[in-house]
Amino acid sequence: MLLLRARRWVACLFWKERVRMSKQGQAVALVTGGAGALGAVTGATLARRGDAVYLLDADGARAEAVASKMARQGLSVRGRALDVTRAEDCNAVMAEIAAEHGAIDTLVNMAGVVRNAAFSRITDEDFDLTFKTHVSGTMHCMRAVGAVMRDRQYGRIVNISSIASLGSVGGAAYGAAKGAIEAMSRTAAIEWATRGITVNCVAPGLIAAGMTLGVPKEFQDAGIARTPMKRNGAAEEVAHAIAFFASREASFITGQTLFVCGGISIGF
Ligand SMILES: NC(=O)c1ccc[n+]([C@@H]2O[C@H](COP(=O)([O-])OP(=O)(O)OC[C@H]3O[C@@H](n4cnc5c(N)ncnc54)[C@H](O)[C@@H]3O)[C@@H](O)[C@H]2O)c1
Repeated sequence: MLLLRARRWVACLFWKERVRMSKQGQAVALVTGGAGALGAVTGATLARRGDAVYLLDADGARAEAVASKMARQGLSVRGRALDVTRAEDCNAVMAEIAAEHGAIDTLVNMAGVVRNAAFSRITDEDFDLTFKTHVSGTMHCMRAVGAVMRDRQYGRIVNISSIASLGSVGGAAYGAAKGAIEAMSRTAAIEWATRGITVNCVAPGLIAAGMTLGVPKEFQDAGIARTPMKRNGAAEEVAHAIAFFASREASFITGQTLFVCGGISIGF
C-alpha cells in the first residue's frame, strides 16, 4: 500500500513537471489581437513572468513591430499575422507553434472590433463582422488549441468579454457578441473540466487604452461618473487579471467571468 502511494506521488511529480515544460522549458502563451492596446500589455505581462509569448494579429506587421520592441527589452515575444475569422489559418498557426514548442499552455482571445450604433441603425455588415471576429474568432482559436491542450491534459484559456455584455447604449452587436463569448466559455469549461483545461473570461469596464479612446469624450465622462471608482482602468489592471487566470495556481477556477471595471458591474 505504502509502495503504491509512493509510486503515485512520484508519478504526480513527473506529471506536474511534464505539463509545465515545453521543449524549450518555457510555458507558451498566445495572445490574439496581440498588436492592440490590451493585447500588447497582456503579452508583455505574461512574458515578464517567463512565458514564451506569441502576439497574433490580423495586422501582422504591427504584431511583429510590437514584439520586436519587447524582444529588445529582453522579453521572449514573437509577432505573427493571424486573422482569427479564418478557421484554417487558426488551425495552421496553432499546429505550427505546437509542433515547434511541443506545447501551448495559454490562449488569450483578445482580437476584437467595435461597431457601435443605435439599434435601429445597425447594419448587417457590422453585425456580422462583430460576431465573426469576436465569437467565431474565439471559437476557431479555442478549437485549434483545445486538441493540443487535451493531449497534454493542461491548458489555460482566457477569453475577453466586456462590461458591454450587460447592456450599453449603441452596443447591441458588441454586447451580444461578448455575451456569446461568456456562454461559449462556460460550455467549453464544462466539457474540458476533467482534461486539465480551464476556460474563464475577463470582462473589462472602461479602460484608458485601445477601443475606449475611440469613444466620444462625453460618453467616456458619463462612464466614469457611473463607475464607483470614478476613473478609467489601466491596461495593466486587465493584464494582471488575465495573468491570474492564466497561472497554474488558478487550477480550481473555470467557467467564470471576472469584471475588471472599477465596480460598475455591481450597480451605480
Ligand atoms: N479598451 C477597452 O476599454 C476594452 C473594454 C472592454 C473590452 N475590451 C476588449 O479587449 C480586447 C482588446 O481591445 P483593445 O482596446 O486592446 O482594442 P484594440 O483595437 O487596440 O486591439 C484590437 C486588436 O484586434 C485586432 N484584430 C481585429 N480583428 C482581428 C482579426 N479578425 N484577427 C486578428 N486580430 C484582429 C486588431 O488588429 C487590433 O490589434 C477586445 O476584445 C475588446 O473588445 C476592451
